[in-house]
Amino acid sequence: MHASIILSMALGASSIIAAPVWPQINWNSVKPDGIDSVSEYFNMLAKKVEAGKLMALAPTCDLSTAVMPTVSVDPLVPPTEGLTLKHVAVGRGTQNYTCDLANATAVPVLAGAVATLFNASCVASTYPDLLQTLPKLALQFNLTSEEGGIGGQIRMGPTDLAISGKHFFTNSTTPFFNLDTDQYQIGEAGCQKDSQTDAPNDAPTGLQGEKAVPWLRLLTRVGATGNLQQVYRVETAGGSAPATCDGMPASFEVQYSAQYWFWEGQPTET
Ligand SMILES: *[C@@H]1O[C@H](CO)[C@@H](O)[C@H](O)[C@H]1NC(C)=O
Ligand SMILES: *[C@@H]1O[C@H](CO)[C@@H](O)[C@H](O)[C@H]1NC(C)=O
Ligand SMILES: *[C@@H]1O[C@H](CO)[C@@H](O)[C@H](O)[C@H]1NC(C)=O
Ligand SMILES: *[C@@H]1O[C@H](CO)[C@@H](O)[C@H](O)[C@H]1NC(C)=O
Ligand SMILES: *[C@@H]1O[C@H](CO)[C@@H](O)[C@H](O)[C@H]1NC(C)=O
Repeated sequence: MHASIILSMALGASSIIAAPVWPQINWNSVKPDGIDSVSEYFNMLAKKVEAGKLMALAPTCDLSTAVMPTVSVDPLVPPTEGLTLKHVAVGRGTQNYTCDLANATAVPVLAGAVATLFNASCVASTYPDLLQTLPKLALQFNLTSEEGGIGGQIRMGPTDLAISGKHFFTNSTTPFFNLDTDQYQIGEAGCQKDSQTDAPNDAPTGLQGEKAVPWLRLLTRVGATGNLQQVYRVETAGGSAPATCDGMPASFEVQYSAQYWFWEGQPTET
């Protein structure tokens, strides 16, 4: 069976309906250090198929079984008691930075991020080990538009995950998530950072070896819809700026990917 078909079956309920024919994976465009994660991914899928799991069946997407990853050193405060998991997305995009060119020892300053969010709720509840590999996998591919696709539908590497929203900043301290699309109405939320912790030492680095950005706990600001209360950025891959602005332009982007976990409930803290 063609690899991309297996991926469609594992990652998209759309395979139940007539699966769209996606362009083939261009293996030559995958960087050498990307081969690992791609083959790791296929191996994992192959094992699951062997194990007799029925990949073609619609995933159950019971989010109550999904377990949000934690780090062992200095873990983030868990979601407030009483909140429930509403959505899991894999984000793929860039972290933007600015540099003070007049100062050779200046440190790059984060100037927002832009990412496309892909619905990974079913993967989270059904194949957590597969979910763990997704940010690393996603980083190996630029987002591509389906050739001639209506509305220029964007794909994440070889996966068939549906777009569940957009991530961007509305000002320097407000990461924003718009999870209202034609397909899903999950909510919208501007957030503020509550806390952060370093990604684990073995977290996937970026295409130029950039460290994985920290894991975050965000609280939604007033005006959030869909009862969204807290958002976690975990399992990050790449995205960090160099230690200094030496040799860097006034503004630049670093490619990254991460999992975002969205928690809903009644307001308890802000
Ligand atoms: C997309 O997200 C919604 C909300 O989290 C979930 O109910 C649904 O099962 C997800 N679909 C897929 C294919 O992941
Ligand atoms: C240059 O950047 C360093 C590191 O951020 C800072 O300590 C220093 O004050 C800056 N110098 C000037 C002249 O802005
Ligand atoms: C970040 O980079 C993207 C891609 O170039 C750009 O569209 C966006 O406006 C930038 N965002 C910020 C906050 O600088
Ligand atoms: C992704 O795009 C960048 C420039 O936009 C290019 O340099 C890079 O080779 C592309 N990577 C892949 C895997 O196609
Ligand atoms: C950014 O936007 C938020 C929400 O609208 C607002 O509360 C905050 O004061 C703004 N911060 C700055 C630095 O403009």
